[in-house]
Amino acid sequence: MMSKKVVILGSTGSIGRNALQVIDALGAEYEVIALSAHTKLDRLAEQAEKYKPRYIAITDTTSMHTREKTFSGYSGSVLSGPDSLVELAALDEADIIVCAVVGAAGLPAALAAAQAGKIVAIANKEPLVIAGELLTAAARQSGARLLPIDSEHSAVFQAMQAGSPNEVRKIILTASGGPFRNATLEAMNNATVQQALNHPTWNMGPKITIDSATMMNKALEIIEALWLFDLPVDKIDVLIHPESVVHSMVEFIDGSVIAQLGTPDMKVPIQYALTYPQRRKGISEGLQLHKLGQLNFQTPDLNHFRALALGFEVAKTSGSAPVVFNAANEAAVEAFLNGRIRFGRIVELIDGCLNAHSSQAHLTLEELLEIDAWARRHVAARLDRGTAVMNEKQITQR
Ligand SMILES: NC(=O)c1ccc[n+]([C@@H]2O[C@H](COP(=O)([O-])OP(=O)(O)OC[C@H]3O[C@@H](n4cnc5c(N)ncnc54)[C@H](OP(=O)(O)O)[C@@H]3O)[C@@H](O)[C@H]2O)c1
Repeated sequence: MMSKKVVILGSTGSIGRNALQVIDALGAEYEVIALSAHTKLDRLAEQAEKYKPRYIAITDTTSMHTREKTFSGYSGSVLSGPDSLVELAALDEADIIVCAVVGAAGLPAALAAAQAGKIVAIANKEPLVIAGELLTAAARQSGARLLPIDSEHSAVFQAMQAGSPNEVRKIILTASGGPFRNATLEAMNNATVQQALNHPTWNMGPKITIDSATMMNKALEIIEALWLFDLPVDKIDVLIHPESVVHSMVEFIDGSVIAQLGTPDMKVPIQYALTYPQRRKGISEGLQLHKLGQLNFQTPDLNHFRALALGFEVAKTSGSAPVVFNAANEAAVEAFLNGRIRFGRIVELIDGCLNAHSSQAHLTLEELLEIDAWARRHVAARLDRGTAVMNEKQITQR
């Protein structure tokens, strides 16, 4: 049997490493042919030694000086720079592209994979948020299949198979509520990096962990769902579910609600995207509901989690607003992780950036990337000038 040839973009991250564990367990039917890292070259070198991929890519060129030493034993092709991801995503011999890069940096490669007609197993939600229109159009045109890895969207995708799209009344995305679900607004706004990184149920990379604490992650997922499932925003609900066991649900027009449940382990949705439409024996622990005893659900408080309220608004606006929403968040989260701003400032910066932008529709990739860059500059200017009184109009819009 011919093996399925897999490219993992962002193999050194949390999703990338989980994907490799899944592939280890699936056996010879899956062959890793390309891997990419940004900064963690030692980790990439270990992966290259184990999987012997035909290609590796290093996207952060500032790490290149250590390359010769780190990869001296590697005999495949070494690509470098951000564009190398596009090359890997469109490799003729590749069947499945796992998009596991974090942030908007993954957009050109996700688009290239969609244009090249690949199976695009997509964890990297930011490209769908920014350029869902372009990505879904490219996939329709080339015959590419966009398969979600995000656990909520995988759950919806699985539950959708119980009916047809026109029988869906709504989808319900679940959210753990993160570490500040029960915190006072004041405690949340002044939380430390360590507190914000202390996710109660999921073990993930730093950016998405902070996004979970603000609930920006769920806001991005609403927009991701619009594109993946071709749904209007009024058919998307969010429910807080602290146990993170019900990964999401679909309510059909007859009143039936179909949910997908499992332990909070990304290997399950990753494997489903790799083996779809089949299911294979998994390596994750089975769910033991009797040990949990109960499952809880509550409506999110949109005053407590302002990022979520903004997410619903942005999802209605569509156009370029999601680009600004995402880029401002990426810049603000980086500033928070670097200790430059307090936690509460993240959402303030996003809100300010959205207010300074007039949304435009049907943009090209270049135009979207320009707006992305503008939003990052806008946030950077505010960071440089401190948090004191700022005149939004001082920053010229593109
Ligand atoms: N982790 C989860 O459980 C989870 C769940 C659902 C969805 N997701 C989504 O999956 C994506 C990956 O998340 P993660 O938690 O795996 O993140 P992560 O652990 O931070 O890993 C990110 C990966 O992207 C690489 N990378 C970082 N910046 C890059 C850049 N500018 N250009 C190219 N590559 C870059 C990193 O390389 P180095 O490590 O070598 O620097 C690493 O391989 C995100 O979009 C996230 O929202 C994650």
